[in-house]
Amino acid sequence: MSSTPYKALPKDFIWGFATASFQIEGSTDVDGRGKSFWDDFSRTPGKTLDGRNGDVATDSYRLWKEDVELLAQYGVKTYRFSLAWSRIIPLGGRNDPVNPKGIEFYSNLIDALLEKNIIPFITLYHWDLPQSLHDRYGGWLNKEEIVKDYTRYAQVCFEAFGDRVKHWRRLTCIIFRLTMNEPWCISILGYGRGVFAPGRSSDRARSSEGNSSTEPWIVGQNVILSHASAVKVYREVFKPVQKGQIGITLNGDWQMPYDDNPENVAAAQHALDVAIGWFADPIYLGHYPPYMREMLGSRLPEFSEEEIQLVKGSSDFYGMNTYTTNLCRAGGDDEFQGLVDYTFTRPDGTQLGKQAHCAWLQDYPEGFRSLLNYLWNRYHLPIYVTENGFAVKDEGTMPLEQALNDTDRIHYFEGTTSVLLQAIHEDGIDIRAYFPWSLLDNFEWADGYVTRFGLTYVDYNTQKRYPKQSAHFLTKVFYFHSNSF
Ligand code: NOJ
Repeated sequence: MSSTPYKALPKDFIWGFATASFQIEGSTDVDGRGKSFWDDFSRTPGKTLDGRNGDVATDSYRLWKEDVELLAQYGVKTYRFSLAWSRIIPLGGRNDPVNPKGIEFYSNLIDALLEKNIIPFITLYHWDLPQSLHDRYGGWLNKEEIVKDYTRYAQVCFEAFGDRVKHWRRLTCIIFRLTMNEPWCISILGYGRGVFAPGRSSDRARSSEGNSSTEPWIVGQNVILSHASAVKVYREVFKPVQKGQIGITLNGDWQMPYDDNPENVAAAQHALDVAIGWFADPIYLGHYPPYMREMLGSRLPEFSEEEIQLVKGSSDFYGMNTYTTNLCRAGGDDEFQGLVDYTFTRPDGTQLGKQAHCAWLQDYPEGFRSLLNYLWNRYHLPIYVTENGFAVKDEGTMPLEQALNDTDRIHYFEGTTSVLLQAIHEDGIDIRAYFPWSLLDNFEWADGYVTRFGLTYVDYNTQKRYPKQSAHFLTKVFYFHSNSF
């Protein structure tokens, strides 16, 4: 930080930490919560690296007040969290009953945050589909049903929680923000690679359920349509009163050509088309990237004219989750990466950056800057960085004192926060928010608990929380650059 000169962040810039319901809540069978499709999936032997599941996680359903205290202690302006659909509508469907206990839980959380002047930044869907919708009609695979059920769920949330703004003084409503988290992961990891619930895969060896080379693309389209339908309802019915911004958040890392060979330069664009354009192009530009059609032909579903009208322009901003950069080479055979090979090893044999605990992540902040510029130039909308973070190698097995002194994570955030300031001040990009992932170490999906992304260490035996040095680092950076002191 000392090397970064003081530059004020824009007046309304918000920063805070992020989490997701299934990763932190635990208490999967209390107060009327219905099953989500991650419940049994994570309990199935072989589905998580350490064989552990989401039944307890960081116990935040019970310890939420402690988590709010922690957020206040960190001085965040906002907190990004998600609602568990199956707590709110246990069976998930549009004709199924709403669970008052579920509403009460999130209501109390929202009130407690507002009490501390922390803006709730809510994601409606962060991967925990009600199991019953999957069992009844195939969940995300069934367009007719899922679009209606998701829209009703969103509407219940808008009604139940959106009123809070009327009683709240500091800001106009910014309660609702995100319809969906990372549609690429929902589609590819859940229905293509089969490593996430519901475990469907085109590779029979990994599939717990079935096999298809069309499913991920169908799911992707149904996620887009569900998102757009909920946004339509929000804009027509709720926005006039609640005045909130609403959008979607997409994952996507920077895809950089391996070298200046034109084939590799084209490969990097193909990788971007599948990693990002698959969702961003329809939502912001009104059509799929031509390369997706070229690659998939009729396996990529078509949008009707009416659907395009619904989808185009259905996000008020660009929500961006990003972690790393890949070097791209032509000639891969993996459709989920756009038939592009990824590597972290440069032509001269050096690594792009420090390796994280998980294989897919290295520390390369320059890529973050390139990506911000790419998205700004292509989609021309304010950007909310809704996730960004680093899992320190072996943090889960090292002694507590060592884990708290997380210098590799600090190094990562030194890079990304400097880039954030440069992108705002030097590149002129309209960036409105930044959310390091994650408030707490938590259930890292197929990795179980071995991969830790938290700014706060969680001792899973006691559920005690210990702030890591990186949390203090971020707090200082944002205090230093904040406009409000
Ligand atoms: C993206 C996801 O939204 C989040 O749930 C996950 O824990 C982080 N990336 C880290 O992998």
